[in-house]
Amino acid sequence: MSEKNDFYNKNPQIWEMTERVKKLLLEQYHHPAVFIKTYGCQQNVSDGEKIKGLLASMGYEFADSPENADLVLFNTCAIRENAEVRVFGNVGALKPIKSRRKGMLIALCGCMMQQEIVVEKIKKSYPYVDIVFGTNALQQLPEMLLRRLSGEKRQFDLDGRDGSIIEDLPLCREEGIKANLPIMYGCDNFCSYCIVPYVRGRERSRKLEKILEESRQLVDTGYKEITLLGQNVNSYGKGLDGSVDFSCLLEEMNRLDGDFRIRFMTSHPKDCTEKLIQTIARCEKVYPHFHLPVQSGSNRILKQMNRHYTIEKYLSLIDLARKWIPDVTFSSDIIVGFPGEIRQDFEDTLSLIRQVRYHTLFTFIYSPRPGTKAAEMEDPVPAEEKSAWFQELLDVQSQIRGEIQEAMIGQTVRVLADGKGKSGEGWLSGRTPANDIVEFIGTQEQIGNFVDVKIDRALNWALFGHTA
Ligand code: SAH
Ligand code: SF4
Ligand code: F3S
Repeated sequence: MSEKNDFYNKNPQIWEMTERVKKLLLEQYHHPAVFIKTYGCQQNVSDGEKIKGLLASMGYEFADSPENADLVLFNTCAIRENAEVRVFGNVGALKPIKSRRKGMLIALCGCMMQQEIVVEKIKKSYPYVDIVFGTNALQQLPEMLLRRLSGEKRQFDLDGRDGSIIEDLPLCREEGIKANLPIMYGCDNFCSYCIVPYVRGRERSRKLEKILEESRQLVDTGYKEITLLGQNVNSYGKGLDGSVDFSCLLEEMNRLDGDFRIRFMTSHPKDCTEKLIQTIARCEKVYPHFHLPVQSGSNRILKQMNRHYTIEKYLSLIDLARKWIPDVTFSSDIIVGFPGEIRQDFEDTLSLIRQVRYHTLFTFIYSPRPGTKAAEMEDPVPAEEKSAWFQELLDVQSQIRGEIQEAMIGQTVRVLADGKGKSGEGWLSGRTPANDIVEFIGTQEQIGNFVDVKIDRALNWALFGHTA
């Protein structure tokens, strides 16, 4: 990992700093090790892989706990208040560890660090944090570490940049079967509840050639599933020269040689078109699955959320997808208790999920994010009532999911075996195109391959079967 790749060739000053950090680390530590914890979505996981790549180039090994680390790095998420509370709690817990472990450094990065109010709090109340940097400052890490290790005061690098895309950063990917591949960064949609556009900046797309080049490398090194990432992949290509869009990207990806499959997240309903649906129907390497977050089943609430679609439009997309892709499956995100939501709105959400019958729902209780529009709105519904609605939603979905899983019994599905199962010796685990877990008896050699599994039994969390 410490070889000088294209990124370092193009940025000789960063390579020089990387080499200097490496030297300092060897002087100051026995076996310099870093513990990294990533919170939040796949976008953060993907950034975490770049941060690991940079740190490995500087000579860090990876530790399995803060107690064994010389550098602890938290890559944070700001999407809901409880995400932030957890990070602050975990940073607090590092204080005694740091006081016991000579020379230990603490670094914080990710979406939380894009908020002034958070950074102020760290400056004031967490004096033992050494390095803080934002989502556009990954490439500054060697310089910040160099300064801090050389005895300079603690380092803050907060987003003064335009967020232009930095290509070719060294990468340490998570695993050898599935890979995340960001196709765009940021978000322009400003849904009224959401902090992402504030912490991730404006939407910008990676060049098609870069995405294809990286995909080719992944397939050549044996990856079997690539997940294309963006806050709204359906608007991929906006702002790029030429006329590429997401359909065009999928077609090009589908044309790559090799036995692999393609997922994508997230698809915003307002930009989902029949053309895209037809493309997915045609591309055999693209899984027939949509993560198409609806957020609410009430038009009144959707308007307040600034989502730019109605339930009628949303349902027409579901119908179109079912018409063109007979085996299509859906998953979605739902927010319960948006400001001003009343029982009737919530019931509209329940009837929507009964109508669509999602394989999987990711459900959240609304959490006000300072600086967003919705945080200013009147929110009279008490927390207990929201919790009761939330539980009701979980119960309805659990029943729907149970029925969907039950209906799979007797069917044969192609799964990508991704590791050992939880059901004991000899069991493997895999995922269906809908991303449902399947456990089956198999052999070690099947891990990393596509296997046809006949389903015998279904529970809510997983399907069980045998090799067909
Ligand atoms: N770009 C994606 C979503 C990214 S955030 C999209 O548009 O669908 C993932 C999910 O977190 C959102 O879909 C939403 O359901 C939830 N979420 C975002 N902000 C939230 C908030 N303030 N409170 C509760 N849930 C929120
Ligand atoms: Fe947030 Fe909306 Fe952007 Fe998704 S599309 S990241 S919910 S603002
Ligand atoms: Fe969280 Fe940032 Fe993702 S706020 S959900 S990690 S884009």
